[in-house]
Amino acid sequence: MLFYNHYLIRCISLCFLSLFLFTGVSAQTLSSPDGNLFLDVCIDEKGTPTYSLEYKGQKVIEKSRLGFRLLPAVFFNDNFEIVGIKEDSADFVWYPVWGENSAIPDCHRELLVELKQQTTGYLLNMRFRLFDDGLGFRYEFPVQPSLRHFLLADELTEFKLTGDHKAFWLPGDYDTNEYAITTSRLSEIPLLIDEVRKAPLVLKSFTPNLAVQTPLMMKSAQGLYINIHEAALDNYAGMCLNVDPESYLLSTHLTPDKNGVRGYIQTGSVTPWRTIVVSDDARDILASNLILNLNEPCKIVDTSWIKPVKYVGVWWDYFVGRRSFTYTDTKDIVIGETDYFALVPHGRHGATTEHAKEYIDFASENGFDAVLVEGWNEGWEDAVEKGEKERIFNFTKAYPDFDVVEVTRYAKSKGVRMIMHHETCSAVSDYERQLHDAFRFMTDHGYNMVKTGYVGPIIPRSEYHDGQWMVNHYNYVARTAADYKIMVNSHEAVRPTGMCRTWPNWLAQESARGTEFESFAWHKGNNPDHTTILPFTRLMGGPMDYTPGILETDINSSVKLSSTLVKQLALYVTMYSPFQMAADLMENYKKYADAFQFIKDVAVDWDHTYILEAEPGDYITIARKAKGKEEWFVGGITDENGRDAVIDFHFLPSGKQYFATVYADGKNADWQTNAKEYTIRTMKVTSKTKLKQRLAPGGGVAISINIVK
Ligand code: NOJ
Ligand code: CA
Repeated sequence: MLFYNHYLIRCISLCFLSLFLFTGVSAQTLSSPDGNLFLDVCIDEKGTPTYSLEYKGQKVIEKSRLGFRLLPAVFFNDNFEIVGIKEDSADFVWYPVWGENSAIPDCHRELLVELKQQTTGYLLNMRFRLFDDGLGFRYEFPVQPSLRHFLLADELTEFKLTGDHKAFWLPGDYDTNEYAITTSRLSEIPLLIDEVRKAPLVLKSFTPNLAVQTPLMMKSAQGLYINIHEAALDNYAGMCLNVDPESYLLSTHLTPDKNGVRGYIQTGSVTPWRTIVVSDDARDILASNLILNLNEPCKIVDTSWIKPVKYVGVWWDYFVGRRSFTYTDTKDIVIGETDYFALVPHGRHGATTEHAKEYIDFASENGFDAVLVEGWNEGWEDAVEKGEKERIFNFTKAYPDFDVVEVTRYAKSKGVRMIMHHETCSAVSDYERQLHDAFRFMTDHGYNMVKTGYVGPIIPRSEYHDGQWMVNHYNYVARTAADYKIMVNSHEAVRPTGMCRTWPNWLAQESARGTEFESFAWHKGNNPDHTTILPFTRLMGGPMDYTPGILETDINSSVKLSSTLVKQLALYVTMYSPFQMAADLMENYKKYADAFQFIKDVAVDWDHTYILEAEPGDYITIARKAKGKEEWFVGGITDENGRDAVIDFHFLPSGKQYFATVYADGKNADWQTNAKEYTIRTMKVTSKTKLKQRLAPGGGVAISINIVK
């Protein structure tokens, strides 16, 4: 199969499609290539398109309706008739620029249902793609003279579930995804949403609603794992899901703008794909490529400049209260009701030439690719009164104590790249006005990576973070950055939907609650199960800049990290990202130099990924082979409960002996009482080795494996 790169095998075959005509109701069915999934598409008595989905004979989605409500008051979900049906299939392999695997198979069957609304004459197409690991479908609006553009009041897509599944969810919020994850039954969600919204852990200036966010991970009582999200989100609003606690009906809730409009649509366009990944084995959810497969192939012709990055930076300094973002002594940075960096002291600026050089030396000595420096440019003081301002930051003007030319010269002499920081505080229109100047400034100074940030409510004030206008902004920044050969890591942007396949310079996003919540500046904390859920939720859409690697787990006398030291190492493997930070202070890496060795060694780009053990909310164990190298890394993590991970080394080539270095929690380790007790041991392993390894409560295990020379 590997030889069929870029070669799409298309076949028109009626063997997997059948057309039945009932009294005014037509049904089309489609099976997945392996026959495990079965899709049924119907037009019901009212002319409403519906679909249902089965997995190994069990219903996953019961008959659910499709369609839209347009403004003003046109129902675009009934009185449809089918005017055409086309089928297609594909079976090929494509090769991402970077990723969890260096080759990705795309094997699916496709059904295109062409619809006409009898009352209006409007045309609407539905495209379904069925893979072995799930279903994707989207709406397509053909060009048509009687409907050239329209406004969306609502998308009416439904996902009717079969029972009161366990769900891992975040409250719907148009402006942030930085919530703790709640685990509950579907029926409990509406009761709990208010509580979660009011919890002190929430950034109060944001805009919650009564829905939940996607990716939504669920588990049925029968042991089916179901993940609902979207793929290829472009020129359309981000999706939340309304939950009916009695019928277990989820329905689409698009992010509106502040006029209440949920979409400005021109015909000749398509919606994002709605995705349902399903399996009876949780490991398949993590291994799924469905969302990437539904995105467009790479649009960048020369990708030679796009490289995964392991980096350090002037960052944790701010979160543990050592340094200040601002150059001048000013009051705290308060955005909306959130005292953003309440405990950050002032008068000791972080982004100085001298401090940047210390990090450059450290990066160069320890083999890191790049150094991030935040707080380097004019504007941080203005973030205080952000609400009254249009222009906050200047992206081409450094503070007087940060000499960009000298820092770049020094970094270059040490073989290290610099990472630019563009915190916008969500003054987005102004950022767009400055964008070309800002990117030119970067390339003039040798920068090829930018971390963007969208803290606080959006300016223009009519928009939310996850609305159509902002979706277009994030995509525009990634595309424009590609023109300048700049890689992007966006914070506080809408949840990713696999767009990094199309724009692989978009290395990572934050879009969830990261390590920053563990710092005492924010004193909010993450739960020990947080990182056992994120790969099943946030990471389904793409890599996360989680910023792991905090080895000094006692943040201060009263604040502790939610993990053991060793779990911080394991996160480099379990939290996939081609953009990985070693986030702790340099002095802490010197203090725990033997454990730091794992962070120095671990790869950020992979040939193969093997999901060894997984249960959302409980544990994850993953092995990965470094790209182009005979090196493997294993990461295992657990929630607040200790457990024995069973690591089967079957992923190693057989017949050879390898050398494993095992970083393990100490016998009495516990994230709450004794997080920093660890052991490092070496052992010989082969593909036949099975290692039973104890993980402490809130703990982990990290293993690096080399060939025996
Ligand atoms: C929030 C980001 O997540 C964090 O990484 C950054 O340091 C601050 N905003 C300031 O831009
Ligand atoms: Ca953030």
